[in-house]
Amino acid sequence: MSIIEVNKLNLFYGNFQALKEITLRIEKQKITALIGPSGCGKSTFLRTLNRMNDLIDDVRISGSVKISGNDIYGSDVDLLALRKKVGMVFQRPNPFPLSIYDNVVYGLRVHGILDKKIMEQKLQWSLESVHLWDEVKDKLDQNALTLSGEQQQRLCIARLAVVEPEVLLMDEPCSALDPMSTAKIEDLMYELKKQYTIIIVTHNMQQAARVSEYTGYFLLGELVEFGETNQIFTSPKDSRTEDYLTGRFG
Ligand SMILES: Nc1ncnc2c1ncn2[C@@H]1O[C@H](COP(=O)(O)OP(=O)(O)OP(=O)(O)O)[C@@H](O)[C@H]1O
Ligand SMILES: [Mg+2]
Repeated sequence: MSIIEVNKLNLFYGNFQALKEITLRIEKQKITALIGPSGCGKSTFLRTLNRMNDLIDDVRISGSVKISGNDIYGSDVDLLALRKKVGMVFQRPNPFPLSIYDNVVYGLRVHGILDKKIMEQKLQWSLESVHLWDEVKDKLDQNALTLSGEQQQRLCIARLAVVEPEVLLMDEPCSALDPMSTAKIEDLMYELKKQYTIIIVTHNMQQAARVSEYTGYFLLGELVEFGETNQIFTSPKDSRTEDYLTGRFG
């Protein structure tokens, strides 16, 4: 079952067209990987899924993005609710320079959940869901920036998880991590997909092949090919995909 339907999506930064007629469907509770050379529009595309591009000046968008059947570019869309439903994890972990506790409950406060007991239950649940609870339960007052990069990345996922999103967008979430830490985050993604739909941008082809069920290949703003990961990696239909995967390009 698909949760996201993108139809003929175009995006312009001023006169520059960064996305061209993107049409695809994202399956619910699966991991979809987006790959492609630098500058081909992967991050731009990811940001269209929770309207983060709205924050950038001079952006024009046409086409449609539906999430659970609702057009997220409709005029009556509640952006706060959209970004609660569709959370984003970035390349560099970006915890706030606040305590671990405050980082996680931040989202709850934003959404008006102020009951201390509920906050603490949700805090524990979300830290457990990213396997961070045992590591931090005795130091919730400590500044989040004192954690390792990998712990910070899991904390950022917990910070999203606490408001129970449906979709997690991950823009190269492991690119600042060593191989051991990367493996931990990948294991976590496997578990999280029971609950969330995950879209991950990665430059690591092994990672895309390992973690995802579906893969999309972007090139110069176009979605060249989209399909089951196994098919894309073993028998791509487009020669441009094959060139990229075999290292002849990019
Ligand atoms: N805020 C912006 N204003 C103008 N142009 C932008 C902006 N952000 C991105 N672009 C341009 O849009 C194109 C796509 O950029 P984007 O960051 O989406 O690519 P990407 O595939 O994520 O690249 P990378 O793999 O390096 O992260 C690039 O040509 C980039 O220069
Ligand atoms: Mg990018």
